[in-house]
Amino acid sequence: MSKWFKIPPGDPYFCVVGSPIAHSKSPDIHLAFGRQCGIALRYERVEIPADCFASAVTEFVAAGGRGMSITVPLKEEAFRALSIHRPRAALTGAANMMTVTPNGTTIGDNADGTGLVRDLVDNHGLNLGGRRVLLLGAGGAARGVIPSLLEARPSALIVANRTIQKADYLVRRFHDLGSLQAFNYRYVPDGPYDLIVNATSLSLSSEIPPLSSAAVGAETCCYDMMYTADGHTRFLDWCRDNGAAACYDGLGMLVEQAANSFALWHGVEPDTGPIIKGLR
Ligand code: ATR
Repeated sequence: MSKWFKIPPGDPYFCVVGSPIAHSKSPDIHLAFGRQCGIALRYERVEIPADCFASAVTEFVAAGGRGMSITVPLKEEAFRALSIHRPRAALTGAANMMTVTPNGTTIGDNADGTGLVRDLVDNHGLNLGGRRVLLLGAGGAARGVIPSLLEARPSALIVANRTIQKADYLVRRFHDLGSLQAFNYRYVPDGPYDLIVNATSLSLSSEIPPLSSAAVGAETCCYDMMYTADGHTRFLDWCRDNGAAACYDGLGMLVEQAANSFALWHGVEPDTGPIIKGLR
């Protein structure tokens, strides 16, 4: 008997899986894209605990599901459970989405980095080429976006992390893709940087990374991959207090990665601007 998925006949069925999942905005975003593009679909939140992705995905395919968005804590587990990956997932070792092909094959992909760079470049008008970028954190969130940031050809991408071994690992993993260096917060090279991206989990507990305010200058854009209802996070407030030129939370990244998934599933590129405005 099916534990997680009972999918009655009807429109193509999609979902977001993770734990906790109750606050995910993905259903609102995908259903709004569907209305905008005239595409009928179902999209639900399904709570799948850690270590259960492999059995959940088997059930999902058997029940007739078409695609999944995958969130914390399942992205790395999903990567291991899925047998075929698009290059973006293979590079990062994590999957944030999965597509079921007509013959039942499951394909993992990762749109997080694309979502971040599209938000920075298309929505906020940043030019990353030749710029100095500082990435805070070296966990799964940071790893998921490094290939896309390097693809935008910054002059340098510096990864700062409390545990230097994790940042060093990312440098070894991605050094073929561009200029990447790792530092402890205390030894981060002098700023100001053109862009600082917070990919630590500290915003979840309203804390900030131990970064010198010298990293922030009057031309610095600051980005927090976490999002909040009003766009404020403790990190962004700290950046503003230190004179940053512009501060953005991660809502746009969330919508842009969803748009990329939607385009792959439905073959239509939605207009993200009105959806981002609607969510604010
Ligand atoms: P995620 O998948 O959200 O990236 P993660 O893999 O657990 O979660 O990574 C969390 C990130 O936040 C890491 O970079 C972590 O630093 P460490 O690698 O040193 O653990 C960072 N982080 C969490 N708590 C922190 C703290 N109190 N001070 C500094 N960095 C912290």
